[in-house]
Amino acid sequence: MKSNLSYVHPNVTSPWGTYLSQVDRVLPYLGHLARWSETLKRPKRALIVDVPIEMDDGRIAHFEGYRVQHNLSRGPGKGGVRFHPDVTLEEVMALSAWMTVKCAAVNLPYGGAKGGIRVDPKLLSQKELEKVTRRYTSEIGVIIGPQQDIPAPDVNTNAQVMAWMMDTYSMNTGTTSTGVVTGKPIHLGGSLGRVKATGRGVFVTGREAARRLGMDLQGARVAVQGFGNVGSIAAELLAEAGARIVAVQDHTGTIYNPQGLDLAQLIPHARQNGVAGFRGGERIGDEDFWDLKTDILIPAALEGQITAARAQRIQARLVLEGANGPTVPEADDILASRGVLVVPDVICNAGGVTVSYFEWVQDFSSFFWDEDEINQRLDRIMVNALNQIWDTSDKHRITLRTATFAVACERILTAREERGLYP
Ligand SMILES: NC(=O)c1ccc[n+]([C@@H]2O[C@H](COP(=O)([O-])OP(=O)(O)OC[C@H]3O[C@@H](n4cnc5c(N)ncnc54)[C@H](O)[C@@H]3O)[C@@H](O)[C@H]2O)c1
Repeated sequence: MKSNLSYVHPNVTSPWGTYLSQVDRVLPYLGHLARWSETLKRPKRALIVDVPIEMDDGRIAHFEGYRVQHNLSRGPGKGGVRFHPDVTLEEVMALSAWMTVKCAAVNLPYGGAKGGIRVDPKLLSQKELEKVTRRYTSEIGVIIGPQQDIPAPDVNTNAQVMAWMMDTYSMNTGTTSTGVVTGKPIHLGGSLGRVKATGRGVFVTGREAARRLGMDLQGARVAVQGFGNVGSIAAELLAEAGARIVAVQDHTGTIYNPQGLDLAQLIPHARQNGVAGFRGGERIGDEDFWDLKTDILIPAALEGQITAARAQRIQARLVLEGANGPTVPEADDILASRGVLVVPDVICNAGGVTVSYFEWVQDFSSFFWDEDEINQRLDRIMVNALNQIWDTSDKHRITLRTATFAVACERILTAREERGLYP
């Protein structure tokens, strides 16, 4: 069958399709800047690379790698690298576009980018993982750099992966280039507070949203999907504020305890084995997770989890999007009509990139801040950004998601207009 689809025309159910429909919703609020809006619907640059490595058993394996720079109007590209067997160009395009919006929403001097390799790292040895990381870094080396595009961790990548990326880039350029990636180990120019920053940002926006809703965090029931970096830290901080974490789901299963799960035991257990098999809660069916009676729901796994059907069943009053793109547009409408407040990914999980920005600034000045200072600055930036978004939402009577896009897209397109079109 002949296809007439260009790569910017999405499969409507894909994350890129979700992103484009979010842009369409903001167009009426962009005034004269709407004439530049096509800029938002096209990635500036998309690089596809082959990543061949020799496996431990002597086979030669090839993996698909991507780096997409969606928009660089406001500064160098910024965005994570994901290692997952389901990574596609469309997914990376969507994730890079959400980075553009996110960086502008919290007013960081960055554009948006994202990368990924189509690989299941759980099937690789440590040596194979290092080879994949280094070869990928070399291949995308033509477009990344401390002033061009700065990768960071995302799903299945961590400080060790960032250390290998920094070393590979530094070897190739003959410099020690700490500013080329963020999320590095502390003694290689990493920042205090970075590991917990995304979860902390989810907590801060959740605390502020709960306050505005008149919801007491003390005793509030919380369900979390995805119990990795973002989900477990957000859960921990909410529990410290008095909330009860009643359900947690990850790729191994779902556990439930209406009295509240003991996180001090669950977090180390989940890190080793996933949540399944944890004795401090009852195992329930994965689909039953969406019917639980809770006050706060935190999707912190992958995209497309809150479908229209699940949105009808969600009992929570507040959804905090730790993950990127967890809610499809139809589900957004259903949640809004049912009075469920959604703090969207593009502000809710912006804590990670905010502390990445702090890391990058500290690397350039070679002067490092203490953790209290970092957490206080993070709190202030997130609260100020959310307040501005909330005012925009009240002014136009639009959802927090469309309001975040309105604030961010105005900044992005103003920069585009002021710079003008080259040549
Ligand atoms: N790490 C960051 O700084 C950061 C920043 C912004 C946004 N995010 C987003 O947050 C989300 C999670 O990222 P992370 O860094 O915590 O990743 P992670 O790899 O640390 O954790 C991912 C979690 O999701 C779970 N999961 C995977 N597939 C699942 C499924 N089908 N059902 C239920 N659970 C499943 C895994 O078991 C794991 O607990 C992603 O959408 C990511 O893009 C991360």
